[in-house]
Amino acid sequence: MSLRRKVSFMTETPGPTKLTGAKQIAYCVCMQSNHWPHCDATHHTAGGSGPKIIELDENKTYMLCRCFKSKNKPFCDGSHSK
Ligand code: FES
Repeated sequence: MSLRRKVSFMTETPGPTKLTGAKQIAYCVCMQSNHWPHCDATHHTAGGSGPKIIELDENKTYMLCRCFKSKNKPFCDGSHSK
């Protein structure tokens, strides 16, 4: 799947995804992952930077951006609805 197709898919399904009980996430910064915002190691074959490890509080619930518009990636900041 090309990056253009992935971006199109993401923008067709705006809105965040909920994450609970996680101590950390490997946030994809190469934008090639098929499971964005999570790294799926595609950067090894497609090129690009490895993931950014983000520490989380496992007792909290997080809303992860799927629309690429957030200014606070990987977290949703409500930009998907603007
Ligand atoms: S999903 Fe909410 S800002 Fe991207």
